[in-house]
Amino acid sequence: MSNIISVSLEKGGVGKTTTVLNIGAGLQQLGQNVLLVDLDQQSHLSRWLEFQPDGKPTISKLIYQEVSHIHSNDFADFIRRNEKGKLDFIPANKMLSGIYAILGADGESNTVLSRIFNSEFFQKYNYIIFDCPTAVDNLLVSNALQTSTKLLLPVQAELLAYESVPAMLQRYMAIKQISDIKPYIQGILVTMFNGRTNMSNEVFTALTDGLVNQNCALNITLPKVEKQEIQVLTHGQENCLIKESYFYRYGTFVRLTLCTGLRLEELLALKWEDVDFSRNELKVRRILHRCKNYDSSCKNSTSIYFDEPKTAKSKRTIPLPKNAIDDLKLWQEKQSEEIYNPDFIITDRNGKHLEHTTFKKYYNRFLDKCGISGITFHALRHTFATNALEKGMDKKVLSEILGHSSVAFTLDTYAHVLSSFKRENMDLMNDIYQKQVKAQNIVLSFKPFKKQYIVDLPPKVVQIES
Ligand SMILES: Nc1ncnc2c1ncn2[C@@H]1O[C@H](COP(=O)(O)OP(=O)(O)O)[C@@H](O)[C@H]1O
Ligand SMILES: [Mg+2]
Repeated sequence: MSNIISVSLEKGGVGKTTTVLNIGAGLQQLGQNVLLVDLDQQSHLSRWLEFQPDGKPTISKLIYQEVSHIHSNDFADFIRRNEKGKLDFIPANKMLSGIYAILGADGESNTVLSRIFNSEFFQKYNYIIFDCPTAVDNLLVSNALQTSTKLLLPVQAELLAYESVPAMLQRYMAIKQISDIKPYIQGILVTMFNGRTNMSNEVFTALTDGLVNQNCALNITLPKVEKQEIQVLTHGQENCLIKESYFYRYGTFVRLTLCTGLRLEELLALKWEDVDFSRNELKVRRILHRCKNYDSSCKNSTSIYFDEPKTAKSKRTIPLPKNAIDDLKLWQEKQSEEIYNPDFIITDRNGKHLEHTTFKKYYNRFLDKCGISGITFHALRHTFATNALEKGMDKKVLSEILGHSSVAFTLDTYAHVLSSFKRENMDLMNDIYQKQVKAQNIVLSFKPFKKQYIVDLPPKVVQIES
């Protein structure tokens, strides 16, 4: 007898179809003979398996045949094969929405799928996996459950998915009482789990502790959001770095970052084609990434690759000050002594672009030589922004140069600079006092100009500009 697994949960979008597909592909790779059955009229599983309408019968016809006892097609006619994954499947389409009326007409409406998939033909499959529709109170789901030997509940690690588990379990208990096959719960599979969020962790804990009747959201203690203080170089440190940078190989790029605020991943991905010497500007068009490999054959390994900047605003053009342009031209001259026609701006002696760790190691050694410690490379970007605000650069312009999503974000990030301008800005309000034409007493009355209410205070002296 085949292992028949129902993958089911009332909530949609929790990863049922994805689970069916992945488990099916995994079992297939392990050498098992697998059949995936799409029981959802949305036919997502069929579409993932690259099913194209081909005029041949789908799952709805298979059910219809069983109920009507008119077997016009062989079981083999219902089976398609995904060539890439070598996976057999029975597709679904919109016709499935009309099947409930037909299923209801069967005297034993809950056992239609069971009669089909327990027949001789399907015994060649070691595993048959049902991708159930998004519902529990549904004849197709109860059919699937009555046919299955195992039930798998994919639960997205979020509240609404979690809350739909009890309904599914009740349905399962009800089926178990009337079914001959008595499926058992293979497991609850937590999907889309993000260990950095409290919600994911709480749902996971609640599920693993079996506390499915409680609202796990009530257990959540939200952490206080502490804004990390940003690191900015003091003017002394900045001067020292700039002075020393002229003696080091990649010093040009310390200076370039201090006057453009580039992110390290943007800086390392710069190519000469991104610099327009005729317009004195630089285009940020790509970033250098280091990412974890998800291929199980290379555990814990990472690879680097180039990508587009994360947001549309990060793709930007930065006009360069003249000194930066001269600096880059000098570097280009030096670099061409080592490498013929280099592609990347920052390269090692063999013309290879630099990686984050290599560059950071170099930068830290450079800091050590300058007698400065604990200043990240990103602090150069913050220093650029702080300097720009102090020098009065337009906030919208600065936000665009930094590649921020909004001016509000820029202002929020660099609020510390703005607060140091508070005194200067408030001093502008002095003007209102200059509107007085001569020194006046302070009046404490609600009815001004009546002599008896004027208290005897020394007159306030106001200087009037000539
Ligand atoms: N483990 C996962 N990580 C990230 N995205 C996922 C994961 N599982 C599913 N998804 C995505 O979530 C969406 C809903 O998944 P799907 O399998 O169609 O859910 P369901 O069948 O329960 O409606 C899809 O866009 C799918 O690509
Ligand atoms: Mg689905």
